[in-house]
Amino acid sequence: MSAPSEKGRLLLVGGSGGLVGRNVLPELLPAWKIRSVHRHPAPDEARLGVEWVPADAATVPDWTPLLEGVDVVLNVAWYRFGSERRFAPLGDGLERLIHAARSVGVRRFVQVSVPDSPASLEERLPYMVHKRRVDRALEGSGLAYSIVRPTMLFAPRDVLITVMLRTMHRYHRFPMFGDGTYHVSPLSARDLARILAREARASGSRNVTAGGPERFRYRDLTDLLFRALGRTPRYFRLSPKGAVRLARLLETVGSTLLYAYEVEWLLSDMLGLPPYEGLDTPLEPVQPFVTAEAHRLTG
Ligand SMILES: NC(=O)c1ccc[n+]([C@@H]2O[C@H](COP(=O)([O-])OP(=O)(O)OC[C@H]3O[C@@H](n4cnc5c(N)ncnc54)[C@H](OP(=O)(O)O)[C@@H]3O)[C@@H](O)[C@H]2O)c1
Repeated sequence: MSAPSEKGRLLLVGGSGGLVGRNVLPELLPAWKIRSVHRHPAPDEARLGVEWVPADAATVPDWTPLLEGVDVVLNVAWYRFGSERRFAPLGDGLERLIHAARSVGVRRFVQVSVPDSPASLEERLPYMVHKRRVDRALEGSGLAYSIVRPTMLFAPRDVLITVMLRTMHRYHRFPMFGDGTYHVSPLSARDLARILAREARASGSRNVTAGGPERFRYRDLTDLLFRALGRTPRYFRLSPKGAVRLARLLETVGSTLLYAYEVEWLLSDMLGLPPYEGLDTPLEPVQPFVTAEAHRLTG
């Protein structure tokens, strides 16, 4: 570990309150002095000596003062759901950040992005359209960068495996979208944190996808979750169209359980990414996590 005086300075945009942020903080702290920009207090930051600048990345007019002394920017800020009115200003704010980082001579910019998705989402979904716009702005900026595109993440309080387990535990049944033969390769949020810490130290520019160590057929993963709960897998089957319709219905009643674009993405079979290569220890398999979470639920 470096002595404090040797630490580089990192601007963490999006902070440590979210799934990626709370996992990345312990990975970064040994090597970086962190300034963290986000809207809501994050419990560990003050205790760990992180400087919090309360701000909405969509409305920061000039990033220059926040970039003072900063070597590396890491952006984890994004929303899981919303309309053009929500994503366009955040995209604008992040583009202003990229331009300011270039002007003040930041050494490197690490951007957390997402894997490829079906053309219908790439072209029309505000979530995706503005994400790609920010990625392209970074690629064209002249900054050295890493754009890291992880697949679905698992970790305590995630929005994937823990939600699936809870649903199975409560209802003893689970929806199966289509035939379930598309693939997923869940990546631990802790491993994504290690990847981001590594990319922050790298040189040159690159665009990397990041899957977990094992690629599952979706319905083999859901079977595994049922078995971890000590239950026989039981599904109610939905056609792909029916699945998207159900997710839309959930959206309209304000549920955050599942969004229609997430179902379309899953069904497109574009989320079974190969494992990220380059960490010095193996990626975490999902099975021990599933066992521990299932045990927590069943007592
Ligand atoms: N979760 C996954 O499975 C997954 C998979 C692939 C890629 N990703 C990507 O990973 C990144 C982080 O995702 P996550 O799951 O950690 O999301 P998250 O849990 O929703 O956290 C996002 C964080 O961004 C901050 N944020 C949001 N809007 C902001 C704004 N306008 N200004 C400043 N900060 C803002 C929030 O902090 P405040 O509320 O304090 O502002 C929040 O802590 C995103 O780019 C996402 O697309 C996630």
